[in-house]
Amino acid sequence: VHNIFPKKSTMWSLVFLKFFLYTATAGSQIGHLKCYNDYFHEMVCSWKVGLHVNCTSEFTLYFQRLLFPLPYNSCVPVNHNENGRLHCMCKIKIPQTVVNDNYSIEVHSNGSMLLKHSVIPAKTVKPRVPVSVSIHETKSKNFNLSWENNYPEEHFLQGYLMYEISYQKKGDPEQHTYTHIYMQLTHYEILRSVLTTECDYVA
Ligand SMILES: *[C@@H]1O[C@H](CO)[C@@H](O)[C@H](O)[C@H]1NC(C)=O
Ligand SMILES: *[C@@H]1O[C@H](CO)[C@@H](O)[C@H](O)[C@H]1NC(C)=O
Ligand SMILES: *[C@@H]1O[C@H](CO)[C@@H](O)[C@H](O)[C@H]1NC(C)=O
Ligand SMILES: *[C@@H]1O[C@H](CO)[C@@H](O)[C@H](O)[C@H]1NC(C)=O
Repeated sequence: VHNIFPKKSTMWSLVFLKFFLYTATAGSQIGHLKCYNDYFHEMVCSWKVGLHVNCTSEFTLYFQRLLFPLPYNSCVPVNHNENGRLHCMCKIKIPQTVVNDNYSIEVHSNGSMLLKHSVIPAKTVKPRVPVSVSIHETKSKNFNLSWENNYPEEHFLQGYLMYEISYQKKGDPEQHTYTHIYMQLTHYEILRSVLTTECDYVA
């Protein structure tokens, strides 16, 4: 027991020293490194920074696929303001994602590593934003909302994507109507009978 205590406290002081060095060199609070991906070819990573930080000149992000290792690759981040919260952001091109993928992500500045994170793409998917969203009146005078999911025909996610449709009276945020659609369909018919006449709607 007597031999263990000194060891432990040395370890703790090393941890604190390291932590102190990291925060001291960063000059301001940096952290919250997180990544999401479209389960195809793009991963987006961001981390919090303080005021007056130039992400492009101060940071470099390094990433590596660990399973079937690829060489380390890098990305130069840009400043990004997420609802008033300041971040650095990197958009990374990655090979087609597979279920077992595991990436190592490191953020470096002034020659030292400040943040490190491992990312499992299959657990951090944020599907692509649908495109070609349009609305047409049908023969039966209903409204047909349609869109494209922005993934190739043969993509794995094709059979699993779910959509949430929301529509409401224009300028009336209180009156939400939500509908959920499961899988595969890329159009939804809004019945005229559920809408109030002479009103504008947004969907
Ligand atoms: C990097 O070094 C510069 C110059 O010493 C300093 O101004 C800057 O805050 C440092 N950046 C980080 C993220 O540590
Ligand atoms: C950040 O630094 C880069 C490279 O040094 C420079 O090109 C860019 O103009 C700077 N951006 C800002 C907002 O100062
Ligand atoms: C991903 O790789 C990291 C670093 O090697 C490891 O710590 C982690 O356990 C791995 N995650 C999975 C789910 O294999
Ligand atoms: C709604 O639009 C989709 C896509 O254009 C089309 O396949 C479907 O037949 C349309 N439905 C109706 C009722 O018009």
